[in-house]
Formats: sequence, C-alpha cells, structure tokens
Amino acid sequence: MTNIYKIAVIAGDGIGPEVIDQGIKVLNKVAELDGSFQFDFTHFPWGCEYYAEHGRMMAETGIEQLKQFDAIYLGAVGFPGVPDHISLWDLLLVIRKSFDQYVNIRPVKLLRGAHCPLADVNREDVDMLFIRENTEGEYSGAGDWLFKGQENEVVLQNGVFSRKGTERIIRYAFETAKKHGRSLTSISKANALNYSMVFWDQVFEEVSAEYPEVETAAYLVDAAAMLMITDPKRFEVVVTSNLFGDILTDIGAALAGGIGLAAGANVNPEREFPSMFEPVHGSAPDIAGKGIGNPLASIWSASQMLDYFGHENYGKLVIDGIEELLLQNTILTPDMKGTASTSEVGDRLVGIIAEMMPARV
Ligand code: NAD
Ligand code: IPM
Ligand code: MN
Repeated sequence: MTNIYKIAVIAGDGIGPEVIDQGIKVLNKVAELDGSFQFDFTHFPWGCEYYAEHGRMMAETGIEQLKQFDAIYLGAVGFPGVPDHISLWDLLLVIRKSFDQYVNIRPVKLLRGAHCPLADVNREDVDMLFIRENTEGEYSGAGDWLFKGQENEVVLQNGVFSRKGTERIIRYAFETAKKHGRSLTSISKANALNYSMVFWDQVFEEVSAEYPEVETAAYLVDAAAMLMITDPKRFEVVVTSNLFGDILTDIGAALAGGIGLAAGANVNPEREFPSMFEPVHGSAPDIAGKGIGNPLASIWSASQMLDYFGHENYGKLVIDGIEELLLQNTILTPDMKGTASTSEVGDRLVGIIAEMMPARV
C-alpha cells in the first residue's frame, strides 16, 4: 500500500518559491525511488502579494485549512511594502503558535565541502544541534503601546516564560541529548533578565536532576556568542530561548557554510498538529527573482521532514547528497562562489540522489 503524505506548501515571498520548488523536486525523487510512499502537495498562495490583494497574509480560515495536513513546507515570508511585524506575525508566527510547534530544531553542522570562515577549525568541531523554544519567551507578542505619538509615549514588550513552556523545551532537549549521547548546553542571561532567565536557569537545574547521564554546561548568551566562534566544539546539543535561538542560529549558519545552507524544523512533538519545515533564511529581497537563491537550506529542511515521517534513512541520504554536491564544487549558487542557478542546483542534487540511492536500499 502506498502511503501518501499530505503537504501544505506556503512558498511565500521573494526567493521562497524558487527554493521550495527544489525541495519538492527532491522529495518527489526520493518518493519515486522508494515507491512505498508519495507526497501530495497543495499550494497556498499566501504571503505579501496575497496581502496586497486581500489585506491579510493568509485566508481567514487558513489555520483551519492547514490543520488537515501532515506537514507544512514553507519558503520565506516578508517583502518590502508590508511591514515585517505584520507579515511575520500574521503568517509564520501565528502558525508556529496555533500549532504549538514549540520545538525549533536547527542543525549547525559543517558538512564536508562547506566553507567555514574560522581559521584552524576541525570540521567535526562544528556539529551542534540547536533546540530553540518556539512559541513564547521574548516572542510572546504581549505588550502595549501607550500614549502613542505623545510626549509620554510608553512601549511595553513582555517576555513570557511559563512553567509548562520552559519545562517542556528543556526536557525535549535533555531527551535529544540522551538519545544521541551528547552533552547539553543551556544558554540564558540571568545576570540581567532577573525574572525570566533566573527562572529558566532554575528549571534547567531541576530537569537536569532527572538526567544524570547527560553532561551539561550553561553560559550567558553574550559569552556563548563569543565561544561559538572561538571554541565551537564546546557546543553539542544546545537549548535556549526564542530570541536567543534566533540570533545564535544565524551565527551558527555563518559557521556552517552560510545562511543558504541553514535548515530548521518547527515541531509539535505530540503530533496533535502539523509541524512546519522551513529554511532559517528570509525572503532575500536583494536577490529575489534572479533565480540564484541557494536552495540547499530548504532541501535540508525537507530532509528533516523525511526524518519526521520516520524515513531517517532518506533524510540522511539527502544530507549525504548535499555533501557530495558541495564536494564536487561545480554546480553551486553565487553565495557559495558558484555560477549555477537555483534550479540547476536542485536538478544536480536530484541526479546525485538517484546515483546514490541504489546503494542505500
Ligand atoms: P534574509 O535571510 O532574507 O537575507 C539576508 C542576506 O542573506 C541577504 O543578503 C540575502 O540575499 C542572503 N540570503 C538569504 N538566503 C539566501 C539564500 N538561500 N541564498 C543566497 N543568499 C541568501 O534576511 P533579511 O534580509 O534580514 O530579511 C528579508 C526579509 O525576510 C524580511 O522581510 C524579514 O522579516 C524576512 N525573514 C523571514 C524569515 C522567514 O520567513 N522564516 C526569516 C528571516 C527573515
Ligand atoms: C527565523 C526568522 C523569524 C524568527 C522571523 C522572520 C520572525 O528570523 O525563523 O529565524 O525570528 O523566528
Ligand atoms: Mn532568524
């Protein structure tokens, strides 16, 4: 019997549609080569162009519609003309929250053939797995704007760290570290954030008592940013808050081959709602429409989708294919010093995967 995965595609803005097309090619190729499962993609035209026409980023019933799918594959959201806080809150962030995708998994792994800007680094020293809290914290969206435009104007932006939200992300990170036999590092900022991060550190301590087998470390975020560059091998599995995770994973992207290679999964571990797979990067308006966006981040996110559906062997095959493409160093986009187009990279990778596949099954 053929298993059919129903995927909602929100290609979105800028380079989103260009890169997502390549991920779809790869997923379809893997399914075709295997033969026991298929992907059924449904495209939603939501994003900043939709906003220009309808005054909203997605259909009013958008969340209801998305609920029916097994997963969501997203390109990027945001384009000049729509304020970023509107475009992102009304689409990306509302999906993460509505579907309780509280785990954001972002690998920072330097593949062979990928460029690292650090001198004297061993490739295997850049191999981190970021577990970013993804539904609350600094991104709670709670606040107010009082006396707007007046002399006594006041703006409040509240961080929200619930017991449930903090515990579950830290526990998820411990489970991940335990499963992979790796250390777990917590990154916070309790010296300045005297409620939220003191609480975070306390919960980390409490939960760590349940996992005596997991080696732990804890850093303040400023020192962690420095250490990621001066001594990346310290970091294996990392757990941190929403905003810190956002910032640190862009540093991670720079360490592991660039933003064009950085992938992420927004996961609802209970599988009550669909999870969403998307590259770390944005819509890259500066290169949009030129057909030169690097699709490898989106494709890596597609490999996380394969893992999520239990096809870890194919998830790994896709990563190995990316590594092979990087090592061949011929068909790459300009951000990787190549001259190839987005779709040429997608096509080449599909070819590589088809060549590697027979040895894997
Ligand atoms: P960005 O990631 O879009 O671009 C930063 C730089 O990296 C640009 O120079 C861009 O050309 C380059 N870049 C990014 N992805 C690339 C790729 N795949 N291949 C080659 N080069 C790539 O970040 P930004 O410029 O800060 O934001 C642009 C827009 O995207 C904004 O509206 C922002 O809010 C939005 N954004 C959306 C997401 C998302 O949808 N997940 C993430 C980040 C930013
Ligand atoms: C990311 C992005 C988003 C975030 C923005 C676009 C809201 O930067 O996924 O890293 O901060 O989570
Ligand atoms: Mn980001």
